[in-house]
Amino acid sequence: MGELRMSETTELVDTYGRVHRDLRVSLTDRCSLRCTYCMPADFSDWIANEKLLSTEELVTVIGLCVDAGITQVRLTGGEPLLRRDIADIIRRINELPKAPRISLTTNALRLAEVAQDLKNAGLQRVNVSLDTLDPIRFKEMTHRDRFHDVITGIEAAQAAGLTPLKVNSVLLKGINDDEAIPLLRHALENDWSLRFIEQMPLDAGDLWARPAMVTADEIQSELEREFDLTPVPSRGSAPAEEFYVNGGPATVGIIASVTRPFCAACDRLRLTADGQFRNCLFARDETDVRAVLRSDVSQSEKDAGVRAIIESVTKAKLPGHGINDPDFIKPDRPMSAIGG
Ligand code: 5AD
Ligand code: SF4
Repeated sequence: MGELRMSETTELVDTYGRVHRDLRVSLTDRCSLRCTYCMPADFSDWIANEKLLSTEELVTVIGLCVDAGITQVRLTGGEPLLRRDIADIIRRINELPKAPRISLTTNALRLAEVAQDLKNAGLQRVNVSLDTLDPIRFKEMTHRDRFHDVITGIEAAQAAGLTPLKVNSVLLKGINDDEAIPLLRHALENDWSLRFIEQMPLDAGDLWARPAMVTADEIQSELEREFDLTPVPSRGSAPAEEFYVNGGPATVGIIASVTRPFCAACDRLRLTADGQFRNCLFARDETDVRAVLRSDVSQSEKDAGVRAIIESVTKAKLPGHGINDPDFIKPDRPMSAIGG
């Protein structure tokens, strides 16, 4: 297996030969919902504001990652639309010399308000999180009565051309696992590209339990009660296994992080809202980029320091997340802080 070849080829290759092209950036750990599988209703352990990277700092790090080989930037959270400077962040990423593709994962509550601005700033696509089509159940699952804002947000995103519009759903046993079929029916009727995500052990409340999660096998057989699913070949580094529905062209995806790990093809690196660089959602280590950015040295020395971190963190990436190992320990921080 090769050495990291970044400097010669502008590719971020790790020691297992995986080429890293996708950077996920958490813009804030705060959120306007409280999805039960993500954070407790009374969660209050937020990152202090002064620790969040500024627009300037974000663009610096993202620019260095793009120089090193990143071609796709996904903005996430928490809820990234809570950043008032969101359109500015997107515009500045889009103005980088080798502008990456930019997408955004959102709960859509503010999307109707900003969809057109984000499109104008250079955003290409959005992923919306929505787990139910029932407003009352939505309130139970998120602790907020905002179902209709999500639907309005999705419609605004489609009208603004932020397409294909992806919708992510997490199914929970006994809560919304009867909605796999209705969600897919609704997605087909409304031109959503739907993906089911297996529940992962990353919640701030430590509620995840393997017997309570809905597995990819279960989701697939449930969907097959109504739809004919055929695998789409050539998945590449995408986390979702895609299936043509009833012969296509519409597809449905299943992201089976737990029961069918896809680490061997992973091309993702991560920057947390407080400026820590990580090589995996489940990594136990992270490296402090913020400290380098705020140190008392010249900009070129800072850039060199950040470049070295990008390189060493990539190189230190393990072959897999280890969720299924008996000695698995979940990361110290929840997904809302790391970035989903
Ligand atoms: N397991 C699986 N998916 C999760 N998400 C948030 N927390 C979890 C979890 N513990 C989802 C959100 C969002 C995406 C970024 O990750 O619903 O769609
Ligand atoms: Fe917010 Fe997303 Fe967590 Fe739900 S899953 S509480 S929308 S960060």
